[in-house]
Amino acid sequence: MQKTDLRSDTVTLPSAGMLEAMVSAELGDDVYGEDPTVIALEQRIAGLLGFAAALFVPSGTQSNLCALLSHCHRGEEYIAGSTAHTYLYEAGGAAVLGGIQPQALPFQSNGTLDLDLVEAAIKPDDVHFAITRLLCLENTKDGIPIHPDYLSSARILCDKHQLQIHLDGARLFNAAVALGIEPVELTKYCNTVSVCLSKGLGTPAGSVLCGDTKRIGSARRWRKMLGGGMRQSGILAAAGLYALDNNIHRLKEDHQRASILAKELAQIPQLGGCVRCQTNMIFLDVEPEVLKNLQQHLSNNNINVGINRWVVHLGVDDAAVENVVQKTRAFFGR
Ligand SMILES: Cc1ncc(COP(=O)(O)O)c(C=O)c1O
Repeated sequence: MQKTDLRSDTVTLPSAGMLEAMVSAELGDDVYGEDPTVIALEQRIAGLLGFAAALFVPSGTQSNLCALLSHCHRGEEYIAGSTAHTYLYEAGGAAVLGGIQPQALPFQSNGTLDLDLVEAAIKPDDVHFAITRLLCLENTKDGIPIHPDYLSSARILCDKHQLQIHLDGARLFNAAVALGIEPVELTKYCNTVSVCLSKGLGTPAGSVLCGDTKRIGSARRWRKMLGGGMRQSGILAAAGLYALDNNIHRLKEDHQRASILAKELAQIPQLGGCVRCQTNMIFLDVEPEVLKNLQQHLSNNNINVGINRWVVHLGVDDAAVENVVQKTRAFFGR
């Protein structure tokens, strides 16, 4: 039986078609701005998301960091959710490298930040305080697609206080597909947006940061400083172009399979009422001890899962879903 890996959509492998596109990519030196495939990818994503400029970077972490560093100077501050990737999972890069202070707020259960709390957290102009510059949002957040109405309200608030908005759109296309809208409907409220190509879209590496020309110019300098200036990176950008053509619309299949898997899991009496599913992610609200034993049981059956988060992606087909259901049922003795 083949291995099934539900730990994350970052485990996706490039398809034969993607590898072919990579091998035949036209290349140049991207630090000199001469890689035609990177330029094509940057222009394509900037256009798709409604921005003047874009920057291809090795990872989502570096993309978010370049954004934060280009929005905020030392002694300035960004507001983010306390479990936001930018705040919790990026090794404090903005604080370490940029002297940028994070102000973390709790997420609401719908994946948004309460805008009244955001407003209350914006510091007044007073020498005692860091200068609040930026609001960081995430879409999807734990699989939850954030609706344009919320982003529009966030924009109004940020305009009132002269704040910029950065969107960590690692899974922006999942959000757009789930909401049935064009991605630009989610990005038009933001000053910068980072999208990942190496998650649900299935490329081996790479993210793209979008913004206006000045901001992306600044981010390009930061990318160089952070060691993210790659040379013939068109070989990776070609995978990105392939993914845009072939792997966005199919995300709905991942969402459907996740929903089927979640429904089947919820039929298991011990899991009833404990299964949450949004887009391609399933969360199990069960005691950690049970989850640990379940994880071990599945691992013994060639199925890798996160402790309480299971993620469906293009490497997971109907047979794999069926197998995961069967093995989970067996664990619970049914
Ligand atoms: C929401 C979110 N943002 C950013 C990242 C960072 O991406 P990378 O792993 O490419 O650095 C991740 C990675 O899983 C993520 O889930």
